[in-house]
Order: sequence, then C-alpha cells, then structure tokens
Amino acid sequence: MARLPIVLYPDPALLRPTVPVEQIDDSLRRLVEDMIETMYAAPGIGLAANQVGRSERVCVVDITAGQKEGQLHVFINPEILETEGSDVDEEGCLSFPGITIDVERPFRVRLRALDLDGTEFEFEADDLLGRCIQHECEHLEGKTFLRNLSGLKRSIVKRRIRKRIKDGDWVAAPAS
Ligand code: NI
Repeated sequence: MARLPIVLYPDPALLRPTVPVEQIDDSLRRLVEDMIETMYAAPGIGLAANQVGRSERVCVVDITAGQKEGQLHVFINPEILETEGSDVDEEGCLSFPGITIDVERPFRVRLRALDLDGTEFEFEADDLLGRCIQHECEHLEGKTFLRNLSGLKRSIVKRRIRKRIKDGDWVAAPAS
C-alpha cells in the first residue's frame, strides 16, 4: 500500500467528473487500498478517487477514520437512488485544508454501488454517514462542496483560498 498525494482545490481533477469502472482488476484493487491508507493517514472520513488525481468512479468512507472496526465502506460506481429529509452540518474536505463550511443536504440517502468483488448492492445511510457519502458522490461528479453555498458565501470562501494560495499556506494536511 502507498499513500497518494491529495490534490487541492482548484486542481482540475476535482472539477472533472469521474468515469465508471468497467473492470475490477488488480489495478483498481490497488487504487482502493492506497485510497484507504491515504484517507486514514490524513486523517479523513472520506476520499474520492479524483482527490488523488485519478478518474475512476470510486470512493471510500469511514466516519470513524479507522478508529472502529467494520466502519469502512468502498463504493464503486455509486449511484444515488433516493434522498430524504434535510439537515445542515459543518463539513470539511481533504482537498480544502482548514476550511469548514455549513452545508445543507438530504438527511438520508439510498444508493447502489459495486463492491470489490463486482457485486451490486444497495446501501442506506443517514446523518453523518449519509452526509459523507453524498459529499464523496459529489466529488465523483466533478463538483465540490462549495457548490452548496450561496453565491456570496462561495465568493468569500474562494477569496480566502486565493489568499492562502498566495501566502503559500495552501498545503495538504501533513500525514502523521
Ligand atoms: Ni471532500
């Protein structure tokens, strides 16, 4: 396994929709393993393939950041089937170091995806896990959580980011 460099906004990889996986082979399995290691090292609770500059439609999620067994989820070609409710909570993103914003999202989500054996499954999640899955699926569409902000708030955050880039203060969280 290897840690992969996490790309930061506004890297074009983050703004490019990912491509559905057609074959679950060794190279995809290696990518997933590396993404898991990268997410845990950050530490983060979710990571989409385009955040490490790849184009495969795959994301990994563990809202305990590896602190609890059995909380790791791998979603290959996830597709949101249904959402329900609404909730506002603070979100961060490994591609936006040090930035947290309040994001309104559906409270519950139901999705379909493939697992690492290529078996299709349906999954339902709410609250933090549901939020995290929606955040990662948004990445896979080539979008970021900034799109959920009003125009004014978005331009304020973008200005902060531009300043941090200019100050040389826009760097990925150091891996521990
Ligand atoms: Ni993110």
